Amino acid sequence: MKEKKVYIYTIGCQMNVYDSEQIENLLQPVNYSKTDSLEHADLIIVNTCSIRAKAEEKAFSFLGRASQIKNKNHQLIIGIGGCVAQQEGEKIFKRVPQVDIVFGTRAIGRLPKHVTEIEKNRERIVDIDMSVSLEDDLYPITDYQTGTDISKFVTIMRGCDNFCTYCVVPYVRGRETSRVPEAIISEIENLVSNGIKEVTLLGQNVNSYGKKEGWCSFPDLLSKVNDIDGLKRIRFATSHPKDLSDELIQAIASLDKLVKHIHLPVQSGSDRILKKMNRHYTKEIYIDKVNRLKKAVPNVEITTDMIVGFPGESKDDFEETIHLMKTVQFDGLFAFKYSDRPDAPAESFMPKVYEAEKKDRLKIILDLQETITRSKHQEEIGKIKEILVEGYSKHSETKSTEPSTGKKVQWTGRTSGITIVNFIDDSKPGQENEKLTGQMVKIKIEKAFSHSLWGKKNTNGYTI
Ligand code: 5AD
Ligand code: SF4
Repeated sequence: MKEKKVYIYTIGCQMNVYDSEQIENLLQPVNYSKTDSLEHADLIIVNTCSIRAKAEEKAFSFLGRASQIKNKNHQLIIGIGGCVAQQEGEKIFKRVPQVDIVFGTRAIGRLPKHVTEIEKNRERIVDIDMSVSLEDDLYPITDYQTGTDISKFVTIMRGCDNFCTYCVVPYVRGRETSRVPEAIISEIENLVSNGIKEVTLLGQNVNSYGKKEGWCSFPDLLSKVNDIDGLKRIRFATSHPKDLSDELIQAIASLDKLVKHIHLPVQSGSDRILKKMNRHYTKEIYIDKVNRLKKAVPNVEITTDMIVGFPGESKDDFEETIHLMKTVQFDGLFAFKYSDRPDAPAESFMPKVYEAEKKDRLKIILDLQETITRSKHQEEIGKIKEILVEGYSKHSETKSTEPSTGKKVQWTGRTSGITIVNFIDDSKPGQENEKLTGQMVKIKIEKAFSHSLWGKKNTNGYTI
């Protein structure tokens, strides 16, 4: 049978990256292998995100490109999956008639069946059924082509029950459901046996992992993952501040493989806005949790998400956000201009903040964060940091595995937090061919930039 090619275009969060890997693996038994060329594809899949209006626009603009190819090659199959597919269902056919398959966020497991069906009788399919159990939809990947990767995402739960008023996730990803711990552990063991050193455990709200099902708690799961031989680092995302427990703080403090980093989206510094967002905490409660974290885990790195221009956000509310940022001193910030989402209650909240005002507020907090990060990075100069090496840095002068012609190999990795460290290996002058990828190394920091640090590894290594 002729081998066919699938081109997968992924938009959005880490969970979509994981889902796209699932899609790639699931399509192999029905004879599809991945291609990086749109023009040579027999099947084009776009895995979409609808968290903000911009992400949704990106999906339709890509579908426009794919449709033009289909106009020349009628055999081409186009599938749209993920959150926009779940949200829009068959309305997508009206907007983009070239689409053949619309599959929702819990239909990934059924995609190969739909593709085979379309190949036979070319009749459009919509599958946005969310009733399927998670284990029937998530297929642990057993045959990873990890290549040079050292890090992978592993979904541990899906959906969200929090219903923040601006957010579309509960509607497009459904209720919270967790995977059985054994399935997660065996997937990670498998990844590790294929060379993976770091995993990021994913869920919209990992703190409620296993609660509904009565399985182990999230900190218990972390402890089980920590026991996996050969795994070097564990990351996780995302934690809802209202559910950040002392047990989790203790886990971050004590589990040796767990990074000293937490992504703790705050969204706003104004109690009034937090209430309208349905976040279930105040600025004071948030700061108190951060202080407990910092006390239990010295050097913990905290990153956050912030929304500016939520309906009704006044200048005073925005000042509260700035005050919160100055108080907490985040290590990283993902900031977004509020955008209305279908189904999310805030769509009807008034008054809306003008686009130009949102743009100004966004710039103000991004600039503030840049100043904070830069000064935090400055403080790292002279310190020795433990880095998990991810590979060659994009600034590397050479990737030669031969003793080089004087050119330096530059490596890249991350601290036990989120900071990127680029470094050169001074230990063997002229022989930078040492295989460092996937190793933990100690680096002396010599320079600080806004988005990264730079340092050196020496002959004997350093002791911390
Ligand atoms: N508008 C802007 N940002 C949003 N986010 C979620 N919904 C919206 C929206 N309607 C942001 C939140 C969330 C992150 C993933 O996306 O900050 O934490
Ligand atoms: Fe959306 Fe709130 Fe759930 Fe996060 S916790 S996915 S912001 S509803």
